[in-house]
Amino acid sequence: MTDSKNTATLTVHGKEYELPVHSPTAGPDVVDIRKLYGQAGVFTYDPGFTSTASCDSTITYIDGEKGELLHRGYPIDQLAEKSHFLEVCYLLLYGELPAAKDLEQFETTITRHTMLHEQMQYFYRGFRRDAHPMAIMVGVVGAMSAFYHDSTDISDPRQREVASHRLIAKMPTIAAWAYKYHTGQPFVYPRNDLDYASNFLRMCFSVPAEEYEVNPILSRAMDRIFTLHADHEQNASTSTVRLASSSGANPFACIAAGIACLWGPAHGGANQACLEMLEEIGSVDRIPEYIARAKDKNDPFRLMGFGHRVYKNFDPRAKVMKQSADEVLDLLGVENNPKLQVAKELEKEALQDPYFAEKKLFPNVDFYSGIILEAMGFPTSMFTPIFALSRTVGWVSQWKEMIADPQNKIGRPRQLYLGETLRDYVDIENR
Ligand code: SDX
Repeated sequence: MTDSKNTATLTVHGKEYELPVHSPTAGPDVVDIRKLYGQAGVFTYDPGFTSTASCDSTITYIDGEKGELLHRGYPIDQLAEKSHFLEVCYLLLYGELPAAKDLEQFETTITRHTMLHEQMQYFYRGFRRDAHPMAIMVGVVGAMSAFYHDSTDISDPRQREVASHRLIAKMPTIAAWAYKYHTGQPFVYPRNDLDYASNFLRMCFSVPAEEYEVNPILSRAMDRIFTLHADHEQNASTSTVRLASSSGANPFACIAAGIACLWGPAHGGANQACLEMLEEIGSVDRIPEYIARAKDKNDPFRLMGFGHRVYKNFDPRAKVMKQSADEVLDLLGVENNPKLQVAKELEKEALQDPYFAEKKLFPNVDFYSGIILEAMGFPTSMFTPIFALSRTVGWVSQWKEMIADPQNKIGRPRQLYLGETLRDYVDIENR
């Protein structure tokens, strides 16, 4: 394939085809193959979508080589330091940092949507107490379409906006109630006099028997963790939400599909798997054994929290998370947290090993997050629900962008068929 400024020439079976090349505001050019099958009668082949742009978007840009993550052009480290989660939600949803009055109005809107329909609490009672909170979140979020039917008409921009606000606002309540149900403690209702992160912490950790004071260190750390997980381009769960939405399914069902995909240990489930790995390693003297296992092709073990499809340099979120882990544990007086010591030594030894250097494997967002969350009092089973809570704004923003795109059509990939060709049925007596 050769290319000029804005076309690429592909030769297939001796015939040449001109394909348009589109240039982005940042990142690689794309070769537009939409007409390829019609013109050349061939498909492209890209399992795992390693070289495929599934859409165009203006929300988040990642430069994997530089280790850069921009939300509407603003770098994640500046947003994590200077902004806060609901302002980042506004930025992702509407494209610009809000003026003070717009931010206040947005925060009031979200705050006033944090309660769930009272009937929804009975959904929780159908689960076993030891159900994984992600199983509960998938079920309860999918059921929201039965309770908030007045914001399921995706052709109505106002209903799309109300559904977006409801999902962002109610996810902390849904996640906190999943945790409370797991512990056997009573549900705690949200409070309108608390900020988003403080409300979530109080719904998780307060009990009716005593007053609960939100620790400002924890709420700031919680808010920063929400921001670091908010959106990440066309990752697996966001692509799931986009594909589900392309059929016209209601937003609650589509976000439930995203939650289900995020649960996998190769994706959002890695934060839980990483902490469990650090627990299993236990001490720094066992690190070489696990690094050897991670390099052994015959051993399915991988270093959880390491590697990334896009980042071939440090995940910028991991850098912020590592700083935050030091700060939070220090401020909480958690001296010499063994898992943090193992994590830091594991990172150091892995990054000195040629295997990881050659394959450009670095810590990702999930490597340090679990250490902070555990120090804050969360069980490992709540790590991925917190990721899902944070990523809801990313899913919703990408969903809104796609639904509003006039080019939007149902996603329907093709395949490389390697099965049997046409053959006649054989009666059972002749088999
Ligand atoms: C998230 O996409 C996103 O943006 C996701 C995310 C988001 O915000 O939405 O960033 C969140 O999901 C972060 C990733 C969390 N997952 C983990 O930490 C699980 C451990 N890491 C991996 O399994 C893996 O690195 C992936 C899934 C993250 C990326 O997989 P790829 O891009 O498909 O890479 P690959 O599996 O083809 O691996 C390339 C090579 C392989 O070796 P070879 O076959 O080339 O010899 O690197 C090796 C892999 O065996 N490798 C690892 C490894 N990750 C990749 N070896 C040891 N330990 C690892 N963690």
